Amino acid sequence: MYDFRPDAALGKPELYRQLTDAAAALTEGERDGIANMANVAALVWEYLPDLNWAGFYRTVGGELVLGPFAGRPACIRIPFGQGVCGAAAASATTQLVPDVHAFPGHIACDAASRSELVVPVVRDDAVIAVIDLDSPSPARFDAEDAAGVEALAAMLASRI
Ligand code: SME
Repeated sequence: MYDFRPDAALGKPELYRQLTDAAAALTEGERDGIANMANVAALVWEYLPDLNWAGFYRTVGGELVLGPFAGRPACIRIPFGQGVCGAAAASATTQLVPDVHAFPGHIACDAASRSELVVPVVRDDAVIAVIDLDSPSPARFDAEDAAGVEALAAMLASRI
């Protein structure tokens, strides 16, 4: 049994350090990327408060395809350049969106989403996936969340 629930009083940098350590432990030695993404999506969902969606889109055949996640069923295919996920994939840069309604082309998979953080996972100079976090609260994510998820993405790049 895995029990990685964090102390609710942790500051964000420490919370993300523990999250990345737990994800590293969960994926250590496992070669199946889908299994690793599935466990990490569940872990993120359990660790981080105030989310309504947490998961992965994978780059398959030049577009993003839905991967393991926690939350409501979501759109399956997203072209590079479209929506927040597509912007992260096309630019290979983190997208921190405090108000999804103000983001041109935002793809509304769950009407409850108000803010979003999407971080590319880069391996050998290619975006192989993105990590997508959605929240029902406006401006839920800040620079510390971005840095924390970027560290998680860097650790996962060789494991998914
Ligand atoms: N809102 C995302 C689409 C994915 S869902 O949020 C799960 C976007 O605009 O790319």
